[in-house]
Amino acid sequence: MKIGFLKPAITNQDIKVMNKIIRSGWFAPGKVTEEFESKLARYLQIKHAVMTSSATAALHLSLIMAGVQEGDEVITTPLSYVATSNVILYQRAVPVFVDVNAETGLLDLNKVAAKITKKTKIILPVHLYGQMVDMKKLKKIATKHNLIIIEDAAHAIEAQRDGVRPGQLSFSAALSFHVAKNITSGQGGALVTSNGGYAQRAELLRRDGVRNVNGKRHMFELGYKYDATEFQAAMLLSQLKRIEQQHQKRNLLFQRYAKAFSGMGVDFPKIAPRTKHACHMFVVWIDPKKRDKIRKFLAKAGIDTSIHYDPIHLEPYYRKQFNYQRGDFPIAEKLGFSTITLPLYPALTMEQQGYIIKKVKGAL
Ligand SMILES: Cc1ncc(COP(=O)(O)O)c(C=O)c1O
Repeated sequence: MKIGFLKPAITNQDIKVMNKIIRSGWFAPGKVTEEFESKLARYLQIKHAVMTSSATAALHLSLIMAGVQEGDEVITTPLSYVATSNVILYQRAVPVFVDVNAETGLLDLNKVAAKITKKTKIILPVHLYGQMVDMKKLKKIATKHNLIIIEDAAHAIEAQRDGVRPGQLSFSAALSFHVAKNITSGQGGALVTSNGGYAQRAELLRRDGVRNVNGKRHMFELGYKYDATEFQAAMLLSQLKRIEQQHQKRNLLFQRYAKAFSGMGVDFPKIAPRTKHACHMFVVWIDPKKRDKIRKFLAKAGIDTSIHYDPIHLEPYYRKQFNYQRGDFPIAEKLGFSTITLPLYPALTMEQQGYIIKKVKGAL
């Protein structure tokens, strides 16, 4: 058996609508992008969604709009994709990592307050693997210290916690439509917010700071080339219609993995009560001494796996720039170096999943 790590759930209908846009000759953001933005906002029960070229772009624009400048500190997690903290560096601000919770892998909210200084401006949590951090608790911390929350919701489009969805309690949240995500246009992202002023500014900034006035283009502030295309929007609009249906399939597979590995000495992230998990990724945490061997064994059995993530602070660039050492964020390191991400996508058959479970158990 050969089981790939990824398989985007694209249907003939998605291809048809995208083809229609390509044939229409109008590729720049237009009516379909607007329709996708309004349907996405409705789905997320938030006022505004602004499509961008990536989640990285949406995070960067959020930091700009929140006024992050050189020397400001942004509290975030080391257990994420590098884009989460790279955007902080784009603004010449300082990423201040806080270690993660050992049971969930999420930013440890009990350790945040100790890292707040006069320079702290933002808290940037990541809803890792599809599980949201406790936004109600984080909001209390942020309000007490007069800080702004910007959410990295790249994994969490379907997620909820305590009835809260991405963007609802924060300045803004960033979604990703990168090829590995639950709905995808190859690349793409969105900034979602309940503030109309922020949404308008994001629309300006994603288009080089340019807006049409009386039929003429004028540039009002220094923006970025962070917009997307109509065919990306069409593809996403089509997938958004069945997002909950696809999520049900993901959830089924996710729960089956959890049940299969429970009580076997294989750890995986704990899910908090009152959580709707986006079921973006299922990771197992295995003794780091055995991890790479087990991945090789699985690869030989035809099963592609991945790692999410080696901790950011130990990436060569971050080590060099900030002199981070092994041991600086021990829990993120332990989890990161134990992680194997297993295939999880709607097209994965029960038979394929059964085979993966059997092989993982065998390897152990
Ligand atoms: C947690 C996290 N944040 C941010 C990003 C960046 O998303 P994008 O590729 O859309 O810029 C990713 C993408 O893999 C991610 O996994």
